[in-house]
Amino acid sequence: MEKQLYTQLKEIYPNSSHININDEKFIDFINTIQKQQNLFTNVSNSITDAIFYKDLDQTYLGCNKYYADFLGITEEEIVGKKDSDFFDKQTVQTFHATKQLLLEEGKKIEYKHWIKYKNKKVYVMTSKSPLFDTKGSIIGIVGISRDITKEFKLQKEIDEKNLMLIQQNKFVSMGEMIADIAHQWRQPLNLMGLILQKMDIYSTKEILEKKTLKKMTKEAMFLLNEMSQTIDDFRNFFSPNKRKEDFNIKEAIDKSSYILKSQLERNNISFNYDSKKDYYIYGHKNEFFQVIMNLVHNAIDTLIIDKIASPSIKVKVKDFDNTICIDITDNANGIKKSNIDRVFEPYFTTKEHGTGLGLYMSKIIIEKHMGGKLSVKSDIYGTTFTIKIAKGKPTII
Ligand SMILES: Nc1ncnc2c1ncn2[C@@H]1O[C@H](COP(=O)(O)OP(=O)(O)OP(=O)(O)O)[C@@H](O)[C@H]1O
Ligand SMILES: [Mg+2]
Repeated sequence: MEKQLYTQLKEIYPNSSHININDEKFIDFINTIQKQQNLFTNVSNSITDAIFYKDLDQTYLGCNKYYADFLGITEEEIVGKKDSDFFDKQTVQTFHATKQLLLEEGKKIEYKHWIKYKNKKVYVMTSKSPLFDTKGSIIGIVGISRDITKEFKLQKEIDEKNLMLIQQNKFVSMGEMIADIAHQWRQPLNLMGLILQKMDIYSTKEILEKKTLKKMTKEAMFLLNEMSQTIDDFRNFFSPNKRKEDFNIKEAIDKSSYILKSQLERNNISFNYDSKKDYYIYGHKNEFFQVIMNLVHNAIDTLIIDKIASPSIKVKVKDFDNTICIDITDNANGIKKSNIDRVFEPYFTTKEHGTGLGLYMSKIIIEKHMGGKLSVKSDIYGTTFTIKIAKGKPTII
């Protein structure tokens, strides 16, 4: 800019080393500069983000009206002052650290941070760029800060709500689980009853041999272990697991099919898992379980509702490059065209007692928590939900 002005001046006075300040051409030249300066001031003052520029010592060279208003003083009062004249020690240190980072990187940096000033506290997104002189040397920094307090609070609310929904969704599945435990316990409980009855009859008739008693006790212990194992499986499923880890998909799917076994058997649904090898992904294992459970539950529901003659659910896992692709396919009558765009919406349900949260939560878990993608394809021959997710590392045991 300065170089351009100099060239312009040279053009007006090609041979002269003296400038006549009363000369019309010179006055025009100065007016043009004045106009440009006014334009710049007007533009920067009309921006509702804070703009400031400082030298390398953190001394203010200038700012726009928005920034001056935030500090509650005029631009003139800010120029020449340092950050330490306005902000607390910690904030000044943060500013200093980001300036250092900017100088090291030599290019624009962006970061989000809280700013406290007098009784104001705002969350801002700041981008800082180097300020160059005409020779290309860095002489300071230019910063633009946008107040994103509202967005930040809104995002926090959404995150908290989503967490609550995950919890709510867990409770719904928990209700279903309890029904499943009850169902899985029914058979061993009946068998236990039979053993006890036999014991009672044999001992009344006094024909209970030591050998038979031992055999019956062994059988009863086996049944009790099985029942206890069922409880453990369900408890593990619901235990809070905040740690992210690499885990084997097969393990997660096997466990889901085991937990849903009674429901699948009760409804004669064949469950088929097809995978060439072990695949690992990274995330919260229990949350991933929750997704598989939601998808398989939905398939079971639909196969029952549509009264499919040979109901089946197929889980197919394959990989390409660094992505793992999990398809969960049922052979029910598919999702209606008018509904397919809505199935991931919260509270969208076509079931009498559905909450409509299953797919919404599954999408949040896969896409927001695990960085993957959950999509659906459906026609009158069935529905496929597809999870695409980056490969994790095999766990070393
Ligand atoms: N495999 C599927 N086949 C056909 N329709 C499906 C399938 N999966 C989901 N849907 C449709 O998507 C809707 C939303 O599913 P979502 O899991 O979010 O809720 P829901 O199953 O209705 O309720 P909840 O999960 O609380 O039992 C279902 O009501 C159903 O209409
Ligand atoms: Mg569901």
